[in-house]
Amino acid sequence: MTDNRDAISIDGLIPLTPQGPAQIDVANPPIDWSDGVLQDSFGRAIKNLRVSITDRCNFRCHYCMPEEGLVWLKREELLSYEEIERLVKIFVNIGVEEVRLTGGEPLVRRDVPALIEKLAPIKGIKSLSLTTNGFSLKSLCGDLVAAGLQRINVSMDTPVREKFAHITRRDALPEVLAGLEECEKYPSLAPIKVNAVAMRDFSEEDVLAFAELARRKPYVVRWIEFMPLDAEGKWDREDVLTGAEIRALIETKYPLVPISDSRIATAQRFAFADGAGEVGFINAVSEPFCETCDRIRLTADGQFRTCLFSRWETDLRSPLRDGSSDEEIEHTIRSAVWRKEMKHYINDPGFQPASRSMSQIGG
Ligand code: GTP
Ligand code: 5AD
Ligand code: SF4
Repeated sequence: MTDNRDAISIDGLIPLTPQGPAQIDVANPPIDWSDGVLQDSFGRAIKNLRVSITDRCNFRCHYCMPEEGLVWLKREELLSYEEIERLVKIFVNIGVEEVRLTGGEPLVRRDVPALIEKLAPIKGIKSLSLTTNGFSLKSLCGDLVAAGLQRINVSMDTPVREKFAHITRRDALPEVLAGLEECEKYPSLAPIKVNAVAMRDFSEEDVLAFAELARRKPYVVRWIEFMPLDAEGKWDREDVLTGAEIRALIETKYPLVPISDSRIATAQRFAFADGAGEVGFINAVSEPFCETCDRIRLTADGQFRTCLFSRWETDLRSPLRDGSSDEEIEHTIRSAVWRKEMKHYINDPGFQPASRSMSQIGG
């Protein structure tokens, strides 16, 4: 895929402007938008919407948030559940099929089941899922499933209590494990996914223990390569432990066989050769998967992002609140999606970080 759009030709980087690159005249769109398919200028159809519902979190993972000093969004800045519902309906109406709720930590927001109840009946949603740190799942999982939650991904970077307390700055591994066990009571949530951010000199010694967790429990364990999305800008390429390295460590003991999967996904999937479970690798740095990207994001304050690494956003909260029609909002969305970034530039000279850190985007 080559990017020959004028707007992105400046050193291959996208300038940070409030409107982003090259405004589209929504009255005269570059293609016929009437067929309903939400797509970008590279022909990628957009199917997957990730909605951050809060920027707050009850953990303080080193690679994500500083211990203190973050300024939280104010209540009135957050989209209400009614506003999220209206936007999701608009997105689904033009092609989105999968909706994932994220944060911060989504479950620190009050009454998340009430939001799920609003979203679950929307016709056209094929998957309604949640990415959580798992802390509150023991008490909330049942209500979430009853409200219509279909899938769940739990972040857990190490299965060792002391290391967990260090990385999250909270001694909460027992609560997370209990939350995962609670999920097992709801077969409709399967497969339960455990996501671990892999960091050099931290994650290597956990690899086999995680592999054994994936063999012993009905969890698909997936390692995510550490990306430059931390609030403190501490990311260093040297800290990226690649999926290939982790796979080699696993295969010293447990041979793996690839699972072919035609669906667009962030993860490369592998089964244990003896059939005892599944693991996955999200190699976002060493093997970027941008060419098939079908993802867009909404922040908790109603800003629309077309890439995890976007340096520009489109304000959807103002039109939601100023009486704009669904059709006008749809046009604004289509125009932004058309200008979706070709890829992230982590591996290119002059890479500039995203305009927000992961805790505000939601992963
Ligand atoms: P499944 O549909 O269950 O496979 O989920 P997922 O991989 O979309 O969800 P999850 O929230 O578990 O995402 C896992 C991680 O993959 C995120 O936390 C990010 O670190 C990374 N990731 C997700 N989407 C993108 C993306 O569009 N670009 C990049 N570079 N990384 C992403
Ligand atoms: N690189 C990769 N993944 C990250 N996450 C948070 N920060 C980073 C980062 N810098 C992951 C979390 C969680 C998901 C929401 O994003 O661990 O699994
Ligand atoms: Fe898509 Fe951007 Fe992620 Fe690449 S970095 S996969 S383009 S969201």
